[in-house]
Amino acid sequence: MEALAVARIIHVLGVVLWIGGVALVTTVLLPAVRSFPEDENPVELFERIERRFALQARIITLLTGMSGLYLVHGLGAWRRYLSVESWWLHAMTAVWLIFTILLFVLEPRVLHRKLRERGERDPYGTLALIQRGHWLLLSLSLIAVAGAVGGSHGLTFW
Ligand code: HEM
Repeated sequence: MEALAVARIIHVLGVVLWIGGVALVTTVLLPAVRSFPEDENPVELFERIERRFALQARIITLLTGMSGLYLVHGLGAWRRYLSVESWWLHAMTAVWLIFTILLFVLEPRVLHRKLRERGERDPYGTLALIQRGHWLLLSLSLIAVAGAVGGSHGLTFW
């Protein structure tokens, strides 16, 4: 029982740091960088700042995923994956998968190069695209957080 409580603490701390970071990038950093003059290469500046968050985000993603899987196992909750009422468990897992693929596969292999190339041609259009992507990820994450807190404390959504 205590191990489960510790796993829950690690899980929630991971979520706070991770989704909090995404919220800061989306609502503060990107709008600020979009107001910089073009000769400072705003896309490169944004990438330099966000890269500092990338290592943190990778470690936190691993910790959140591992503690989440430990919780599923410890609570004997595998069969919840078969029920629609536990949509929030699917949402958490889907958000985790999306970020894991983005951070560990797409960003280092494809996105970094593509955004740099596009950023040289059209810096503000590229930043607008990056910001739309961040809004989408932040919205999905917040829906998952709201669903998880409600669902794991007995709220039924329909
Ligand atoms: C592999 C990925 C994940 C798995 C397997 C997982 C699994 C779990 C489980 C089993 C619980 C406890 C449910 C209960 O007590 O009935 C939980 C709680 C929670 N999870 Fe996840 N999770 C994952 C990723 C995420 C992500 C990405 C987020 C954020 C977007 C998240 C946010 C939360 C929150 C906020 C709680 C509620 C804690 C509470 O109020 O007690 N989880 N998770």
